[in-house]
Amino acid sequence: MSELKKPWPTTEEEEKYWQDLSVEFMDSPDESYLNTGSWGVLHRSVFAALVKGLEELEGNPTQNRSQLVERMNLARRDLAAFLNAQSEDLAFTTNVTISMNQVIHGLDWQAGDEILASDQEYGAIDNALHHAETRYGVVVRRAPVSIPPAGPDEIVDSFRRALNKKTRLLFVSHVTSPSGLIVPIKELAALAHEHGAMIAVDGAHAPGQIPLDLTDYNCDFYGGNCHKWLCAPKGTGFLHVQPAVQGKLHHLAVSHGYDKDGPTRNHQGLLDIKGQPFMWQLTSIGTRELSCFGAVAEAVALQNEIGKQKIAARGRQLAAYLRQKMADTGWVDPLYSPHPELSNSLSTFCLKGFGEANPSQALYERYKITTPIWGEAEPGYTQRVSTHIYNHFADIDRMVEALAEIREG
Ligand SMILES: Cc1ncc(COP(=O)(O)O)c(C=O)c1O
Repeated sequence: MSELKKPWPTTEEEEKYWQDLSVEFMDSPDESYLNTGSWGVLHRSVFAALVKGLEELEGNPTQNRSQLVERMNLARRDLAAFLNAQSEDLAFTTNVTISMNQVIHGLDWQAGDEILASDQEYGAIDNALHHAETRYGVVVRRAPVSIPPAGPDEIVDSFRRALNKKTRLLFVSHVTSPSGLIVPIKELAALAHEHGAMIAVDGAHAPGQIPLDLTDYNCDFYGGNCHKWLCAPKGTGFLHVQPAVQGKLHHLAVSHGYDKDGPTRNHQGLLDIKGQPFMWQLTSIGTRELSCFGAVAEAVALQNEIGKQKIAARGRQLAAYLRQKMADTGWVDPLYSPHPELSNSLSTFCLKGFGEANPSQALYERYKITTPIWGEAEPGYTQRVSTHIYNHFADIDRMVEALAEIREG
């Protein structure tokens, strides 16, 4: 892709645009926050919407709750449009962990059924898969994915080779946590369906980092987070389920969204519980904070205003600059994929030659720079850097210089 070869010609006007935008985000101006991959930062408009909802409710928690429900419904509608999905098929969840547990523990399993997952799934979700093994006798098998793979076909081929007649579910991250790899989920969905299996996608890092089209992907289950790259309040996620497989799911927690007589079909043939879309009722879990979901509408509106393609391109532009600067040091190995379709705003590196220095701690304590760094000095620490719309070229310069100083001791 040409942008990756010549990634950072920028203009004063362009930088002014991003500068003016970034001051409206709430991260400390005297710090460099390069960890949207863990949690995004709120824009002031999103924070204001959140606080407004909280204040409104406290005026009269009994009478005013319905307004928050209404706002949550509107936000769900906006989020669905943003993801190119139907609002009826989309449920708000607290986070993608709940979304994926809803799938893993909401399906009926027979002992010996197989789940085919990549070997790069997030630790917490891997725990849920392991729990399914011990609880239901499911077998979790792995399709190995190299870091980095040569291209999208290598990933699809790895799943194809590992599929068999017992495979009921493919399980994969859309953007992997350890290396920021973008997985070709549309092709994997087609592969799963060809073999009579379903596919569940952990989209923790995708919404707000890259444009999404859930209709086009045709994945049976797609869970995502709003509190990372979409920069919505913490504790906002979603689960999208195709109408054809909704009826396969059981409630994780049974509350008012349950009908003792079971779900029914409405006049459009869609599954309902007590006159409400199945997915909304499935995830109704009793009292919970709702202002955070209403504020998702504000986060979506902001991304729409800037433009999804523009956001992805900015993340990629900063990532390309970062990757070049890191390569120039001579003591960094890339772990991200250089393939233009396989990565965007997440870049991972192996940092070599740090000896006794603890770069993670030093980066924050000495320089107020936040990026996750894990592993050991030998064979090298792993660092993951997120480049999002509130980050700047100067953050990257500071970080690379700081790493060099820490390494020199
Ligand atoms: C791929 C992936 N899945 C799941 C999660 C869990 O996200 P949450 O704690 O918001 O549920 C993360 C968190 O970073 C992740 O990277």
